[in-house]
Amino acid sequence: TTDADQHAWRPRYHFSPKRHWMNDPNGLVHFDGEYHLYYQYNPQGDDWGNISWGHAVSTDLTHWQELPVAIPATDRLMAFSGSIVVDHANRGGFAPAGATVPALVAFFTGFDPGTKIQSQHLAFSLDRGRTFTPYAGNPVLDIGSTEFRDPKVFWHEPTQRFVMLVVVALEQQVWFYTSRNLVEWTRVSTFGPAGSADGNIWEVPELFALSVDDDPTRKRWVLIVSVNHGSLWGGSGVQYFIGDFDGTRFVADDAQPPTLWADHGRDFYAPIMFANMPDERVLWLGWCSNWEYARELPTQPWRGQQSAPRELSLVTTPRGLRLRQRMAAEMKALVGPEPLFTARENSAHMTAASLAQAGIQGRQLMVRLRALRAGLDSPIGLELLKGAGESVKVGFDPERNSFFINRSCAAPRFKGQSERHDAQRLSNANEIEIEAWIDGSLIEVLADGGSVALTDLVYARPDASCLGLFHGAAATVSLLEVHAMQATLCSP
Ligand code: FRU
Repeated sequence: TTDADQHAWRPRYHFSPKRHWMNDPNGLVHFDGEYHLYYQYNPQGDDWGNISWGHAVSTDLTHWQELPVAIPATDRLMAFSGSIVVDHANRGGFAPAGATVPALVAFFTGFDPGTKIQSQHLAFSLDRGRTFTPYAGNPVLDIGSTEFRDPKVFWHEPTQRFVMLVVVALEQQVWFYTSRNLVEWTRVSTFGPAGSADGNIWEVPELFALSVDDDPTRKRWVLIVSVNHGSLWGGSGVQYFIGDFDGTRFVADDAQPPTLWADHGRDFYAPIMFANMPDERVLWLGWCSNWEYARELPTQPWRGQQSAPRELSLVTTPRGLRLRQRMAAEMKALVGPEPLFTARENSAHMTAASLAQAGIQGRQLMVRLRALRAGLDSPIGLELLKGAGESVKVGFDPERNSFFINRSCAAPRFKGQSERHDAQRLSNANEIEIEAWIDGSLIEVLADGGSVALTDLVYARPDASCLGLFHGAAATVSLLEVHAMQATLCSP
């Protein structure tokens, strides 16, 4: 690949490290005016290895500053995925007596490359998340397993206890533990297997309560598991279960829970929420890649990118209760004040050429398209990154009643690129809506107000120009808006 390729593919408003390998987000937490993004990182190379917790901070969730590695790997222990809890009441006793600043307590899986044992460790920070001291009594949880990982820890107010979720990966199980002091843990329940095909493994559990239909008095609990190998399109993907949690046990609403996917593209994995938020929102972000080809992705000197932060809630659809993901409100600050291009009715001039004439260039865009469902007889959508031998499409297909990203026309640069990914539409409203957030090689589509999400990587040629609208003669376009996104990261 050339420098021009790398320049075109580099995300500018999504986080990627300046150089080297990154996978899962870890320990997402808001503390003292800063958002912390830790992540699985190889400080020495662009392939998975020497896994440490890399670190970036932001005050606004959109401009990220990369900081030194927070939890380094040692010869004897890598730091796999996990979470952070702010110990406000100093229940773990890690903050010195009388300290005014609470400890940030990171839980991660210590992986011993010799024995391959995975056990749960903790490390605490007394300097606003910059450096961490391993607890002398580590590991805090060890069952002698080589597939026991990704602790999620949070404070459960009603029972006045900390709760830890850990996966027993091959069994497709989440084990629940509780503790009053963060170091002594008691096993209290098990969830799974449920809703996953045989042979899959479960990773990175997450659990939160979400409001239903924007009513803060109606909440359901959602248990997330990241599933590897046999997900929707192969490789890795994210499943969720809706139910109830009483501080001890998660019970799914259905005895046979349906298989629900959080994202219907192929490049959204291991998402976790921000802990200790200053408001009631539940925000998460995930690693935009797929274990099936993550190590082959053609980028350098970085390899790996995180999604934008998305706000979560539950919405009632004709098919039942579903996860809804909308871009965090902070992202609006990056959207240019005036659209580069707007059209409010069908018009012949919405062609690739006229859009190009309107000065729509570059790969940092947000496009919103609304059209009427009634009468649609052929696919409608946006042709992105069109150029010699290249065409990537985002759209809605009335025949399948699905939203899709078709990356099958982009030059194949990794196994899996030549695919179309469809997501069933859930709404019956007459107006369909597509919101596409495009950033270099990353496309996040949130459709119909976020009831459908599709995230895909696309490595189109740098000279592939940007945008066109496609639709049949019967289509009624009610809105097309193209916005330039402010770039927030310097690319090397
Ligand atoms: C998920 C995962 C986790 C593990 C980490 C290792 O992508 O496999 O289960 O802790 O990545 O980097």
